[in-house]
Amino acid sequence: MLACILIHSLMALPMETKSDAHSFANAHAIRTTHLTLDLHVDFAKKQLHGYALHELERLQPDVKELILDTRRLHIEKVEISPDGKQFTPVTHQLDKEDKVLGSALRIPIEQDTKFVKVHYRTSPEASGLQWLAASQTADKKQPFLYSQSQAIHARSWIPVQDTPGVRFTYRATIVTGEEKLQPVMSAQRSESKAVGRFYFEMKQPIPAYLLALAVGDLRFQKTGNRTGIWAEPSVITKAAKEFEDMELMLEAVESMYGPYRWERYDVLMLPPSFPFGGMENPRMTFATPTVLAGDKSLVALIAHEMAHSWSGNLVTNATWRDFWLNEGFTVYLERRILEKVYGKARAEMETQIGRAGLDKSMKSMKPAEQILHINLDGLDPDENLTDIPYEKGFLFLLHLEKLIGRERFDAFLKGWFTRHAFKSVVTADFVNYLKSELLNKDEALAKAFPLDEWINQPGLPKGVPAIVSPALQVAEGKAKGWASSDTIPASRLNLKGWSTQEWLFFLRSLPETISAKKLKELDDAYHLTETGNNEVLCQWLEIAIRNNYEPAYPRVESFLTTIGRRIYVKPLYEALLKTPEGRERAKTIYAKARPCYHSITTTTLDEMMKQAETNPKR
Ligand code: BES
Ligand code: ZN
Repeated sequence: MLACILIHSLMALPMETKSDAHSFANAHAIRTTHLTLDLHVDFAKKQLHGYALHELERLQPDVKELILDTRRLHIEKVEISPDGKQFTPVTHQLDKEDKVLGSALRIPIEQDTKFVKVHYRTSPEASGLQWLAASQTADKKQPFLYSQSQAIHARSWIPVQDTPGVRFTYRATIVTGEEKLQPVMSAQRSESKAVGRFYFEMKQPIPAYLLALAVGDLRFQKTGNRTGIWAEPSVITKAAKEFEDMELMLEAVESMYGPYRWERYDVLMLPPSFPFGGMENPRMTFATPTVLAGDKSLVALIAHEMAHSWSGNLVTNATWRDFWLNEGFTVYLERRILEKVYGKARAEMETQIGRAGLDKSMKSMKPAEQILHINLDGLDPDENLTDIPYEKGFLFLLHLEKLIGRERFDAFLKGWFTRHAFKSVVTADFVNYLKSELLNKDEALAKAFPLDEWINQPGLPKGVPAIVSPALQVAEGKAKGWASSDTIPASRLNLKGWSTQEWLFFLRSLPETISAKKLKELDDAYHLTETGNNEVLCQWLEIAIRNNYEPAYPRVESFLTTIGRRIYVKPLYEALLKTPEGRERAKTIYAKARPCYHSITTTTLDEMMKQAETNPKR
């Protein structure tokens, strides 16, 4: 009987309590169910100050302390309370800082403690915040602040259990003190009568990495019933046009995988220093302005971030080891959205481009890095972002889809989202679901699908489906034909009117080494150095650097000094660092650009520059 109870209580252990190598929180014993934030935004001091009030649930009745994650927070006072009304100050302890994880904040609690209130200030260098001067924004009138909490930066602006295994609802009061400085959060917003004071509420439980805040000279423009754009005045019309299909995209996902559970879907346009393409903050995706190409050719990013409203925000990886459950599923959904809204040819192109990128990046990866259920203990998740969770994760699902057919597959995936809605899950949860729903019922399928190899082995299993886009085949043929011939002039290739994806594939299919003369011929015919498409431009500039095509050098510098998106700037600096002359230019440009970059980008680049100094031949 006792054994029974024990087993029962073990099985009933909430999924959210599985352990996370990237958090100090004792979430197996006690955890936050609701968070109240009251924060003042001080641009002059580059500081948030106020309090975070945690409402707690006990999993172990005898737990004696609450451990929160923090990084460089100045803790002013900690109070505990049984009822949220009467608070008693307590003496906290801030552990020595770990370089990757920050400092554990230890708070002694009583038997009856249900609330813990932490009064604090952030550091001006908070890793999860970027404070921009007015001159670094689109309209140059007001300063700008934005957060980036994923993966483990929420702790640098809020003392919190910073593990995706813990979910809580939240309310926030944000005081900017100025009407012009409008805050937005990953929550429902309401204005108050007081100037510069705003209220927010997130009714659905979310993990800490989805806490988000931005403040700036922001306006709103509607794009549909549930969708809209927040941006600085000069950006808003362009963004609203570029993303006018958002409502259609939402309907596309809903038709396949069930209702949108977050009421609104808005997109906030950030300044170009944003280190990522996009961040799926619930109700309010944060996006780089580099996707505003003018022809919707880069909207896959919006499809991706929106898809996270199911894969990631609704069903969440419980630890960063399980990141492929967020990203691989999201890439799969993203491509299904593209297919529905823009047609099969577009989805095929994105798939083939993704596959080519994966194959290329795997060549320089260690076997241990190629595993879906990767071991990240002791590592910084930011510095270990690769194509594996995204593209290998995508191929895992595509393989399954091909084996069982779309109809069965979609029902299976919809069931996964429905049954695990608002839960945090680990890889084993998905494996169990896959077995009980499909593999255990279908011996032939279990044989045909190399589950363990997919999840625990490096490389790609045999039988992985290859998606070939006919348009990209043509682009590849033209690239190879032109590169190896002296008689076909670039102008005769007839590439005008080509899509972004065809251009990208064409450029990526050129040989590593190609003469500057050939590049000039291409540039004269198609004006690549002047292109307004950042994806194509970035690829072109990398080729130009690699092959000493000097006419593109000024554009390399202007690109690197205005854009801070890490996947764009990293390969360009890498290419520069390969030669002694390039290294000098890289240093000069970096000195100029660095103050505008986000710390996520400078962390990566500082290390690269250091490596280049100590090991210049690399
Ligand atoms: N959630 C990620 C961004 C992220 C991942 C931030 C890990 C910090 C740590 C987002 O959904 C994403 O994947 N963005 C991609 C774009 C996407 C189209 C592949 C990016 O920013 O490059
Ligand atoms: Zn993503």
